[in-house]
Amino acid sequence: MVSVSTFFVFINAALAAAITVNTTSGPITGSSINGVTSYLGLPFAAPPIGSLRFRHPLPATFSPHPRKSSLSKASIQFQFQTAFTPTEARALPLSAQSEDCLYLNIWVPDTVKKGSVAALVYIHGGGFAEGSAMSGTIVFGFPSLPQAGQQNLGLLDQRLAIEFLHRNIHLFGGDPKKLTLFGHSTGARSIAVYTFAYPHNPLVHGVIIESGSARLGPPLSTKPASDAAFFAIAEKLGCGNNGSDKEFLECMQRLNAAEIRKAVWGTVLNSWTAFTGGAPGVDNKTAFDAEEYKRRGSSGQFAQIPTLIGTANYEADTLVPFHENGINYTLSDLVTKDFTCRAAIEAGYRARNGVPVWRYRYMPRLPAVTAYEWMRGAYHFSEVPPLWGNIERLGIKTPEKWELEMGDYLQKVWGAFAKDPREDWRSWGGRDISRKAARWARLGREIFRGSDFLSRESMMTGAI
Ligand SMILES: *[C@@H]1O[C@H](CO)[C@@H](O)[C@H](O)[C@H]1NC(C)=O
Ligand SMILES: *[C@@H]1O[C@H](CO)[C@@H](O)[C@H](O)[C@H]1NC(C)=O
Ligand SMILES: *[C@@H]1O[C@H](CO)[C@@H](O)[C@H](O)[C@H]1NC(C)=O
Ligand SMILES: *[C@@H]1O[C@H](CO)[C@@H](O)[C@H](O)[C@H]1NC(C)=O
Repeated sequence: MVSVSTFFVFINAALAAAITVNTTSGPITGSSINGVTSYLGLPFAAPPIGSLRFRHPLPATFSPHPRKSSLSKASIQFQFQTAFTPTEARALPLSAQSEDCLYLNIWVPDTVKKGSVAALVYIHGGGFAEGSAMSGTIVFGFPSLPQAGQQNLGLLDQRLAIEFLHRNIHLFGGDPKKLTLFGHSTGARSIAVYTFAYPHNPLVHGVIIESGSARLGPPLSTKPASDAAFFAIAEKLGCGNNGSDKEFLECMQRLNAAEIRKAVWGTVLNSWTAFTGGAPGVDNKTAFDAEEYKRRGSSGQFAQIPTLIGTANYEADTLVPFHENGINYTLSDLVTKDFTCRAAIEAGYRARNGVPVWRYRYMPRLPAVTAYEWMRGAYHFSEVPPLWGNIERLGIKTPEKWELEMGDYLQKVWGAFAKDPREDWRSWGGRDISRKAARWARLGREIFRGSDFLSRESMMTGAI
């Protein structure tokens, strides 16, 4: 979670001032460095371990002992091999993993006055199988266990985190009426499905959906299919076929988490075919099937809040199978088109229902973010390091000034949207456009002269 004003560069050196904030989970003592105070590892849920494994997440109970700011362990997960993996691993060093992973990290600029600023809430990507903070991953987030009543626990974790922030953000200087979700890939998909799951009380005033949509990815599985896959795992682990539902659950809760992780490797749970180990299934509460998304989308049954949605120009260059010398561009372009079309559909639902929506296509090829020569331009994930201002950590090459400025520009656009998502592009450095139709921007094509707008038709095609 980042406060919008974090996006300014702070040059004053740090005097480590200890600031304690008394949240509904208990007090946490932040630490201040370079004008930004971090509150890391703040629990928003009861640890989902022991008898809470595979159960609906519960709010954290209040603990009076002040907690020191420190990163929590990552959720139990897998690491995928993509063209981006080696650099990603440098940028996001692997930490220890634990089921006990429902913690938030909050960064607040010291200039923020109490209860006054807009705040951005990040939901990470990673195919529901990697990434950390916010929700359980693989089978721990998505067990498909009928006895627990709900199968999409990871999505419920995200909701609980948002509820926690809505209740507590004022203590950190944030305005609970000005929360904005932003997320990439699966994080973006999570946000898109969230707007359908909570049409009447989204608790946020805007959403930014980067390279994802409610319908992106293989269809969500039906319940019987996912249950069968889960039971097969349970059987492998010695919890199959004996005892009552309660005994079955208790047996699964007694198992060592590492054993469960090992058992689900290579198993597709809930038919998220690209990945193994668990993903959301249709429960008609937190996630729906494609037809239902279409029905709800067309009839405006989703949270009608301003939306910024977009994709990368060569989205799939890092998503299709690769070897050091390259990829099949034809295949990559087909997958890119899929991302583009689905973003168009998602934007279309909003435009047709009079909901403010802006659509972008992220264009630039930043050398310091491009690991291989064969990468043709902006790819899946390539806006994330500049947006977070940590390009250097990729270790590809030292970013040039214009690359860092590209990051500043993205932060400016995202920040401006978070402050007032109903304002139009003009105030974000973009050009004037009609407010009547869905709007498009070609982000980063003409750096610092804002965004370049394209026709609807050209946005529907593959790379441009
Ligand atoms: C923190 O909040 C709790 C309950 O919300 C309250 O009982 C406690 O007195 C507060 N502590 C401080 C130091 O304000
Ligand atoms: C099911 O049987 C296995 C071995 O046959 C045992 O280890 C396990 O505890 C049993 N589970 C339940 C729920 O009784
Ligand atoms: C969800 O709703 C659809 C359409 O109403 C129905 O066909 C399906 O069985 C439902 N699935 C679940 C898991 O409730
Ligand atoms: C590249 O992908 C396309 C589309 O899937 C396929 O038709 C073609 O055969 C592939 N080319 C090679 C060299 O594998």
